Amino acid sequence: MLNAPVLQLVEEQELKSADELLARFGALDQPETYTPQECARIEALVAEIEELKEREDAIILAHNYQRPEIFEVADFIGDSLELAKKGRDVSQSTIVFCGVHFMAETAKILAPEKRVIIPDSNAGCSLAESADADELVARRDELREIYPDIKIVSYVNTTAEVKAVTDVCCTSSNALDIVEKIDSQNILFVPDENLASWVSKNTDKHIIAWNGNCYVHHQIRPEEIRRMRDARPNLKVVAHPECRDDVLQEADEVLSTSGMIRYAHESDSQEFLIVTECGLSDRLIMEVPEKTFYKACQLCKFMKMITLEGTRDALLTGRDEIELSIEICDAARGSLERMFELSWSSGPGPDSSTPR
Ligand code: 13P
Ligand code: SF4
Repeated sequence: MLNAPVLQLVEEQELKSADELLARFGALDQPETYTPQECARIEALVAEIEELKEREDAIILAHNYQRPEIFEVADFIGDSLELAKKGRDVSQSTIVFCGVHFMAETAKILAPEKRVIIPDSNAGCSLAESADADELVARRDELREIYPDIKIVSYVNTTAEVKAVTDVCCTSSNALDIVEKIDSQNILFVPDENLASWVSKNTDKHIIAWNGNCYVHHQIRPEEIRRMRDARPNLKVVAHPECRDDVLQEADEVLSTSGMIRYAHESDSQEFLIVTECGLSDRLIMEVPEKTFYKACQLCKFMKMITLEGTRDALLTGRDEIELSIEICDAARGSLERMFELSWSSGPGPDSSTPR
């Protein structure tokens, strides 16, 4: 079952010294990356960014897959949707989104009056790129001839244009719930074929999948998981639903990124295999030192385009600002708001928050 996500508030804290950063990142066992010199550089950049945040009336939202040093300047850490909702609710006039482009766009759609900037506009997403709005409308119209009640459910990993032609959005934590609640039996599920397959196995509704996938999760193979499990019989395997079906069959839990974090904290198990992008396992290694986390992960090159220098420069220059037309924003907001309405009608919504 997919858990409700957990947004993490990074409480006001003293800035860490280079030595403290070295100790924190030491848990990652990446001595070539986090050297004493690098930690001194990070310390200086963090201080500079904190000053700029004050000056620019800005807040930094960071996705769970970001580099460890980005969490040192983040005000909130969470999954794509939690962060977008948070962006709408905060008082600051500028949001710096440390994540990928569709996430920053979602924040802009939900808070069009705010300035939303992303430190590197090349930080895209292979999944979001796989669905084009015109092709989607053409496919829906074609399918409508056979299934008159067909509705489009889009994962939030889509462009604003795709959201604008979508009936209801969903996330990795509420996809099944949304499909169950939408008032149609036939659903065109866009763009992730793996998430579509997972949902399809757990519902009686008819799911027609778009032909897209995430290049990161799609690379992970079941043999890796079997090899790890054979060597460690008490291992709990936790996988993201963007993984292939043969990988998900090996998992004990299928969870969103924030669901994985909560599970790792709450589970009685001591050893976990984290099957998703590597930033998440790094984060768990640093934050839950009493448990052991093994990796069956791949890096997302887009997420890793966001750096502290880029974040500092974004605050200094206001680059790259997300710009969307009012028409696209309004239409796309409708599909997100319908998701909130449907997911609020059962239990905690995507904004449940837990202070760190
Ligand atoms: P979450 O919404 O679960 O954080 O996932 C976003 C994503 O891009 C996963 O690859
Ligand atoms: Fe997109 Fe995959 Fe990267 Fe997530 S991990 S941002 S779905 S390319």
